[in-house]
Amino acid sequence: MCGSLCHKQLRKGRRKDMAGNKKMKTVFFCKECGQESPKWMGQCPGCHAWNTMLEELVDSSKGKKVTADKRAASEPLLLAEVSLSEETRIKTGLEELDRVLGGGIVAGSLTLVGGDPGIGKSTLLLQMCRLLALADHSVLYISGEESARQIKMRAERIGEFGKDMALLCETDLDAVEAVIRKSKPEIVIVDSIQTMYRDEISGSPGSVSQVRESTAAFLQISKSMGISIFIVGHVTKEGMVAGPRLLEHMVDTVLYFEGDRHASYRILRGVKNRFGSTNEIGVFEMQQEGLAEVKNPSAYMLSGRPENASGTVTTCSMEGTRPLLLEIQALVCQTNFGIPRRQASGADYNRVNLLMAVLEKRLGVPLGNCDAYVNVAGGMKIVEPAVDLGIVMAIASSYYNVPVEHDCVAIGEIGLSGEVRGVNMIEQRIAEAVKMGFTTCIVPKVCTEKLKKPKGCNVIGVDSVKDAINLIRK
Ligand code: TYD
Ligand code: MG
Repeated sequence: MCGSLCHKQLRKGRRKDMAGNKKMKTVFFCKECGQESPKWMGQCPGCHAWNTMLEELVDSSKGKKVTADKRAASEPLLLAEVSLSEETRIKTGLEELDRVLGGGIVAGSLTLVGGDPGIGKSTLLLQMCRLLALADHSVLYISGEESARQIKMRAERIGEFGKDMALLCETDLDAVEAVIRKSKPEIVIVDSIQTMYRDEISGSPGSVSQVRESTAAFLQISKSMGISIFIVGHVTKEGMVAGPRLLEHMVDTVLYFEGDRHASYRILRGVKNRFGSTNEIGVFEMQQEGLAEVKNPSAYMLSGRPENASGTVTTCSMEGTRPLLLEIQALVCQTNFGIPRRQASGADYNRVNLLMAVLEKRLGVPLGNCDAYVNVAGGMKIVEPAVDLGIVMAIASSYYNVPVEHDCVAIGEIGLSGEVRGVNMIEQRIAEAVKMGFTTCIVPKVCTEKLKKPKGCNVIGVDSVKDAINLIRK
């Protein structure tokens, strides 16, 4: 009894010594969602993913002691007394970025910029720094991934930088903290959070506890000193090591930078925003000299549209508050094998199958022995049901080999009975179509009731898929 107790005490003491008078304990973190557990489990109780718990040592003495002074310092405030006048937004100079941020950078905010490696996160943030520095804001760009020379080479491609742009190539969190506290810049970029580490915390850089600790440190700095901090986080293909998902709860704003590797356009999407609306998008194009803003994404997406070709229809999808015109292409041909081949890129595969079933059942179009390929031109991904009518009309147009009018836009959701259902923000969608020179809009009939007639555009209301297809076959 005594022996085992002594042994335990010895072990405890050793742990203390190894960690330099710190009490370390073993905990398990889920690498997907950050769920903490005192023992290993095959399935994470938080997100129910299998085999995601990783063992790590953490300092258990931290964060528990609240001194009497601190307790006394915390006083509740009256909401009415909180002044908002101090909240000023700094314009980044990149309109697309400002839109996603909700009108500019909020002082003292912590923003996470996530995305696949190589998508252009560093480029975007460096461009933002350049414009901010030129507008006389003090900026500090901290890189743990690239050397100063590499950053300079990238900067040369982007353009000329102002003299107020400071650079720090460092991965030690304590050193980084010291520099920020000393130089007190207005805006700090941390590229990337996975490279930051603190010596006392065990676990390699990028592990759950290191990432969590680093983010907590930056959160503390940003809130206490009023510095706006941008953190870059990598998302890896195979479910992320200490993924940014874990950080989403801690930060104020989460932006995802995404795009097709083969297409040059990039979309910056707001996923969480404590200071503005989410689901806003910013569109950029990767060029030789960095990222260029795409001010008119509809024109960009529709460029190169074929004339008088069957199987192509223009539709309109809402991206946040912004309507985006897209070209849907379909190719339907006789199948040469027993099982017809179906493929959808940019549109949801199951949705395309469902819409084909509606065409077959409600209109009697024999698609059962046809191969069908549906593609959203430009590599854009759409999930909104309002594009259903566009998809159905593209498939029918290809099947009958009859082109849909070149200046026609089709908008509407389709139900299983073949009915065309109403969609939201129809005015904005039609306005965008008119702006882009379209003269006919096929929309759900329910939406036309309260609609003000737009100038120079013929709005046709349809009740069912049959009505819409008859417009092509007339
Ligand atoms: P980068 O910003 O390094 O990506 P991330 O930080 O998200 O990993 O972007 C790298 C890619 O961008 C790289 O494949 C090259 C391309 N690129 C250009 O095409 N033009 C440019 O001017 C720059 C700076 C990068
Ligand atoms: Mg990078």
